[in-house]
Amino acid sequence: MHNIILIGFMGCGKSTVGVRLSYHLRLPFLDTDKLCEQKMGKTIREAFEQDGEPFFRKTETEVITDLADRKDANIIATGGGLPLREENRKILKDVGLTFYLRATPETIFDRIGHDTKRPLLLCEDPKSRIESLMKERDPLYTAAADHVIDVDGKDFRSIVREIASLCKELT
Ligand code: S3P
Repeated sequence: MHNIILIGFMGCGKSTVGVRLSYHLRLPFLDTDKLCEQKMGKTIREAFEQDGEPFFRKTETEVITDLADRKDANIIATGGGLPLREENRKILKDVGLTFYLRATPETIFDRIGHDTKRPLLLCEDPKSRIESLMKERDPLYTAAADHVIDVDGKDFRSIVREIASLCKELT
């Protein structure tokens, strides 16, 4: 268990923070969305359209299970839906230290309200979709996390520093 895992809603900055943290701490960066796409041989959007969301969720659980079996230390950015399954939340506890990057629905909407790569936001009213998903998910992200980092209004550099210094304290 020496991984650092970033969880949180789509658009909260997991990948951007993860890549920068990986430079800062000199650890490799992994992204469960990318690992799922490699495993499925298609993009997440294609998987949702051609095979349905349950197929993607099953792949996501396989990917995090494989990561739990690895012995090396990595910075891992997760897909926003990964911590929703109880089974995955349990696995996360074994995989490493988990940080929840908490953002408000307003911040999320500003960043990705018009994104076309995220199938869950391809709807008439992405703003209300973000708000309702956030309400459901925030308690689950909090339950899965060892630490919550509020990201609104902070630049990536300060978020990276905050996580790096917490890692020193917590390990
Ligand atoms: C999802 C988040 C996405 C991706 C998929 C589903 C979700 O990842 O896994 O579109 O359920 O929140 P990001 O959080 O990296 O956008």
